[in-house]
Amino acid sequence: MRIKVVVVGVGNIGRAVITGLTKQPDMDLVAVLTRRPDEVRRQLADLPVFGWDQRESLPTKPDVAVLCGGSRKDLFDGLQGAEMLKLCHTVDSFDTHARIPTYAQVMDLTARTTGHVAVISTGWDPGTFSLARVYGSAFLAGAKSYAFYGITPRGGLSMGHSDAIRTLPGVQDARQLTHANPKAMEQVRTGKNPDLKPGDMHWRECFVVLKPGADPEEVRTQIVTMPHYFEPYATKVQFVSQEELDRDHSGMQHDGVVITVGETAPGHRAVIEYRNVWDSNPEGTAGIMLAFARAAHRLGSLNNSGVFTPLDIPPAFLSPHTKEKLLKNFM
Ligand SMILES: NC(=O)c1ccc[n+]([C@@H]2O[C@H](COP(=O)([O-])OP(=O)(O)OC[C@H]3O[C@@H](n4cnc5c(N)ncnc54)[C@H](OP(=O)(O)O)[C@@H]3O)[C@@H](O)[C@H]2O)c1
Repeated sequence: MRIKVVVVGVGNIGRAVITGLTKQPDMDLVAVLTRRPDEVRRQLADLPVFGWDQRESLPTKPDVAVLCGGSRKDLFDGLQGAEMLKLCHTVDSFDTHARIPTYAQVMDLTARTTGHVAVISTGWDPGTFSLARVYGSAFLAGAKSYAFYGITPRGGLSMGHSDAIRTLPGVQDARQLTHANPKAMEQVRTGKNPDLKPGDMHWRECFVVLKPGADPEEVRTQIVTMPHYFEPYATKVQFVSQEELDRDHSGMQHDGVVITVGETAPGHRAVIEYRNVWDSNPEGTAGIMLAFARAAHRLGSLNNSGVFTPLDIPPAFLSPHTKEKLLKNFM
C-alpha cells in the first residue's frame, strides 16, 4: 500500500523532505502545508501547496505528516504535532534534547486520544545517534558513548541552533557552526571513559545578521545565555552583513561520530564507531525522517497509537523491503 504524505512547513528540512520523497518507492506527496501559501506556491509551482488553515479540508487525506517546523517555536511552543495528530500519524525531528521527555508526554497524550502514532525526535541527533549510543553502551557493557560534531576544521552547521538564534528579537538571519575539540576526541579513544562536560567537547561559532537598529551586545548576551543551546559552551558571536553570511557561510555541511570504547576483558580493547558525513544536513535528516514516516505508517496499520522514538521501532519497519528480502539480503 502506498503511503500518502503531507509535508508541514517549508524551510530547509521541508524542502529536503519534498526532494527526498521523489526517491521513495512507496510514498506519494499529497500536500504541502505552510503558513505562507502564496510565497511557497510561487517557489513550488507544480506541487499541491495549501495554507495551514486548510489542513482539515485537504482533497486527499494523508496517512503521515512529516513535521518540518522549528523545534522550539513550532513543535514545542506551537504544538504543530498535536494539531496534525487530529488528522493522521506524524513524524518529526524534535531536537531539544533536554525537553524530549516533556515533549514525548504531550505527544503521547494527543496521539492516544486521536488514535494515531507520533514518531518523535528522528533525524540523526536525536535519531540515529541515539540508536548508536544505546547499541554501543549495550554491546560494550560498562562503556560510555560520546558524540562529537563538526569534526573537520570547517565545522558543521547546526540548524536547530541557527533556528534558535533566528527566533531572537533583533536577529535578521544567523548560522551556527559547531566545532569538536580534537583533544577531547583523543581522550575518548584512549578508552579511559573520561568525565567530559558538554563544554569540554565542543565550542560554538555564530554568524549573526542584525535587524536595523538592534543592539549587538543585547543580542550577544541573549545568545550566550540561552539555556541548553549556548549557555554550557564557549561561544563566539560574530556580526556580519547578509551578503557576507550568504557568500561565506552558506554551506549546509555537517558531520559527527558516536564513539564507544571499552574492554571486553582486561587488556582487550573494543571500539564501536558510527559516523555520518553530510554534504547537506537537511537532506541527510530528511532521508531518516522519511524512513521513520514509513515506520509510523506500519505501526499505525498494526493498530498502535501513542508516541514512539527511534529506540522503540524495529529496524525492519524503516525499510521498504519485504521481510523475505531483508532475511535473504540484509542479515
Ligand atoms: N534531529 C535531527 O537530527 C535534526 C537535524 C536537523 C534539523 N532538525 C530540526 O529541524 C528543525 C527545522 O529546521 P529548518 O532548518 O528546516 O528550519 P527553518 O528553515 O527555519 O524552517 C522552520 C519553519 O519556518 C518556516 N519558514 C521557513 N522559511 C521561512 C521564511 N523564509 N519566512 C518565514 N518562515 C519560514 C517554515 O514554516 P512555514 O512554511 O509554515 O512558514 C518552516 O517549517 C530545526 O528546528 C531542528 O530542530 C533536527
